[in-house]
Amino acid sequence: MRRKLIAGNWKMNGSRESGAVIDAVRDAHPEPAVEILVCPPATLIAPLAGRGIAMGGQDCHPEPEGAHTGDVAAEMLREAGAVAVILGHSERRAEHGEGDALVEAKARAAWRTGLLAIVCVGESEADRDAGRTLEVVGRQVAGSIPDGATPDNLVVAYEPVWAIGTGRTPSLEEIGAVHAFIREKLSERFGAGTSDGIRLLYGGSVKPANAADIFGVPDVDGALVGGASLKAEDFNGIIAAAG
Ligand code: PGA
Repeated sequence: MRRKLIAGNWKMNGSRESGAVIDAVRDAHPEPAVEILVCPPATLIAPLAGRGIAMGGQDCHPEPEGAHTGDVAAEMLREAGAVAVILGHSERRAEHGEGDALVEAKARAAWRTGLLAIVCVGESEADRDAGRTLEVVGRQVAGSIPDGATPDNLVVAYEPVWAIGTGRTPSLEEIGAVHAFIREKLSERFGAGTSDGIRLLYGGSVKPANAADIFGVPDVDGALVGGASLKAEDFNGIIAAAG
């Protein structure tokens, strides 16, 4: 049985005062039926950790240390209090030119220090219009996930680029088709037993109003939530819809 995961991606938002959001999420779910994770900017992990909500990073460097100005190692995220890290988000892929091989190296770095890797995949609008959604997602799944994936070290987030921050979402059928495809690809590579345990999140304009429908789609095991994770009321509504 896969336990649903609701992960908030704060992107480059928040401050120490955002601890109030973390506290409000914690207080609203004293015994959550689902797993809750918040991924704030790296500088906020340490100040916001230890308040009862698990923390994650939004990116890491493949190396454990070295001359990489501006980067953060998986080990540093872990020391700050993170238990997970988002990797290969489409904003990293687009703004920083990250390709599948780099994302794969980052996932290995996450595993090296015991972090859960949340590997993001998803097609652009042009890919979808051209009928290339499964081809693109299949290539990203194959290239971004290292050998050795297990339900304990990997979560895959399907985030259509055109649905992120736009208020638009694919139909429930379209979400279900891509999730089933991802699970099939994981099964071919890692075996059905492993694939059946790996959680697949949907991401892209998830809000309280559409969350329950999305969580009702087979093979959707939670959500990666951007904008709606910044407001406790919205994030709490999504968590409630998953439970
Ligand atoms: P959104 O972002 O919920 O604001 O669409 C999702 C994401 O980028 O993870």
